[in-house]
Amino acid sequence: MRVLKWIGGLAGFAALIGLTVGVLVGAPVADGVDRYFSSNKFCANTCHVMTATVAAELKESAHGTTKTGVVPQCKDCHISENLLGAYVDHIKGTRDLYSSVIKGIDTVEEFEGIRFDAANRVRMDFVANDSENCRSCHVMEKIQPERTRGQRQHVEAKEKNITCIVCHYDLVHKSSPLSDEFEAVVSSY
Ligand code: HEC
Ligand code: HEC
Ligand code: HEC
Repeated sequence: MRVLKWIGGLAGFAALIGLTVGVLVGAPVADGVDRYFSSNKFCANTCHVMTATVAAELKESAHGTTKTGVVPQCKDCHISENLLGAYVDHIKGTRDLYSSVIKGIDTVEEFEGIRFDAANRVRMDFVANDSENCRSCHVMEKIQPERTRGQRQHVEAKEKNITCIVCHYDLVHKSSPLSDEFEAVVSSY
């Protein structure tokens, strides 16, 4: 019974966290973001900053302007699919990223000051989980790059098991320089 209680508690906790994280980064991108973020008192200024930077960048990117209208939202790339995953993410990555890097950021200038660290953390998360969020939409075997360079590199990626982020960084946000840590992963292939 104790175990059941514990599981119940964990599920409730995970749900709560899911909700919190959802509010923080899972708001609908299109027009939702502004409304959601700006009306959200407990996000304070951080959310305005996110709207003015990363969310705006996503809107302009190839992922924000797809022909089919399938538009990934923050959570699609930044939060694991399952509840337990979301919970683990919260503990390990997202909370870390949010509480130690992004929280309390009040201005775009302040955000630009921490962007390099934030980008690096997200990239290293993708390395660690083999770009699992990318794979929730993209099936490697089915991707057909238009140009020869892409076709060639995709053959290499499959042969050497290279994960998406190693080649597809600077995907939807403003470009950030590569850290030594990430550079080492890239040059390990
Ligand atoms: C919610 C689904 C979804 C997720 C998650 C997602 N994508 Fe995409 N991606 C798309 C759609 C839709 C397109 C538009 C092209 C298309 O319809 O095939 C696209 C296009 C692309 C393109 C071509 C356009 C470009 O920007 O060069 C690349 C490369 C790409 N995705 C890589 C990734 C990588 C790497 C990740 C993980 C960091 C990722 N995607 C996550 C749905 C997704
Ligand atoms: C070894 C490097 C490498 C890896 C690893 C890699 N890609 Fe690519 N990918 C490329 C290159 C280069 C292109 C061509 C880009 C271009 O022509 O603009 C490409 C093209 C694409 C395209 C199609 C864009 C188009 O319309 O031509 C998608 C979608 C994509 N990659 C998604 C992914 C996803 C998702 C993963 C991981 C499952 C992945 N790639 C892993 C290098 C890589
Ligand atoms: C298609 C996948 C994708 C979507 C959708 C996406 N991101 Fe990202 N995000 C990334 C990747 C990949 C990085 C790692 C940095 C890089 O190489 O671009 C990143 C990095 C970040 C960073 C670190 C700073 C930076 O500029 O790199 C923040 C903060 C962030 N994302 C927030 C968001 C928010 C908020 C949303 C929704 C408005 C969002 N992201 C939507 C893929 C995505």
